[in-house]
Amino acid sequence: MLKKIVFGILSLLLLLIGGFVVYVQLNWDKTYDIPYPDLQVSNDSTVIERGKYLVHGPAHCSNCHVGSVAEMIQADAGEDIPLKGGAEFPLGPIGTIYPRNLTPDPTTGIGRYTDAEIFRMMRHAVKPDGTATLSVLMPFWDMADEDLIAVVSYLRSLAPVNNEVKENDWSFMGKAVRVLASSFQPIENPTPYPKAPPMSATIERGEYLSRYVANCVGCHTARDQMTFEAIGPEYGGGMEFEPWPEYALAVGGDPELWTRTPNITPHPNSALSKFKNVAEWKARFRQGRTISISQMHWGPFSRMTDEDLEAIYLYLSSLEPQDYDPGELIFKK
Ligand code: HEC
Ligand code: HEC
Repeated sequence: MLKKIVFGILSLLLLLIGGFVVYVQLNWDKTYDIPYPDLQVSNDSTVIERGKYLVHGPAHCSNCHVGSVAEMIQADAGEDIPLKGGAEFPLGPIGTIYPRNLTPDPTTGIGRYTDAEIFRMMRHAVKPDGTATLSVLMPFWDMADEDLIAVVSYLRSLAPVNNEVKENDWSFMGKAVRVLASSFQPIENPTPYPKAPPMSATIERGEYLSRYVANCVGCHTARDQMTFEAIGPEYGGGMEFEPWPEYALAVGGDPELWTRTPNITPHPNSALSKFKNVAEWKARFRQGRTISISQMHWGPFSRMTDEDLEAIYLYLSSLEPQDYDPGELIFKK
């Protein structure tokens, strides 16, 4: 009798696991039928200039879409590195992904895509091939039309570079996460800003940048290590980054160190409160990176305008203080 029960339970478990494996294998790379945004690129030089500022400044595309870790370091330092993609982004146990070639090359870059396909990627986190991407990497879905148009118009104006980027490599766990986690689902109903707030020191401009362009909220909120879903208060800090040995060694850092983001709400113990006024805040950003292994895109952020840096400061200072202590920012596990 007991044998039969044990056998029964084991068979059921096997069936469930088998079913799950099949389910993941069938669905991890499924395509989504999400409509294309009705936006068109422009050849206007002021639009392209605006896009250039966003790509190399607050939206920091220029720090990720390069060819190697060495180029990421050069881009952060302000060198104009072609956005040819290919650097290896390790995502721990879930796999490795590669930022793609954003130059207009017709066989390996965005020359392969229609404007609509690129706009859909930005607004719905659905790649040109119809599969979903990890939306927290590029949380630009609520950027206003005019800024999205500016960004894509600038990309279209770049010199094409032929560079074939490797396919992403997902472990079984990565495939399962892609099927189950909300961070890998398309953004079906974005609520884009109707108009980009003008570039001046206002709370509204600061919120727009912090949420939808510069992704301060993405990194400065504690998130689950596997699914990237928020597990702490917004801007309270506490997101942890695994060591990235290749990067750490390239900047002369310790390849075993983890990093964690600080609280940037106006709590007395937060990183925001270290700055007594907006002048000190701006001076910190102009200085750029001080911790070599930091994931923060200090270079592009250091090149933001005075107005944009002031706007972010005003906005963060207007938030509800979060009594949340993320702990040591640099640590070993
Ligand atoms: C934090 C790093 C990072 C930043 C910042 C970033 N990207 Fe990406 N991007 C990636 C990665 C990684 C992929 C590949 C994602 C995938 O395959 O699921 C990607 C894919 C893309 C794709 C899809 C291209 C294709 O061939 O499938 C487009 C378009 C794109 N990014 C545009 C941008 C633009 C425009 C910006 C700035 C406004 C930007 N990205 C900022 C990392 C980044
Ligand atoms: C890719 C992740 C990431 C993004 C995006 C990001 N940060 Fe950070 N930030 C970090 C990490 C990691 C640290 C801790 C290491 C360091 O100080 O560089 C940090 C540190 C800071 C500090 C403390 C600096 C100091 O000198 O003590 C401030 C202030 C800050 N971030 C503000 C921002 C603002 C504002 C934005 C958006 C414009 C932003 N961060 C976007 C990861 C990020």
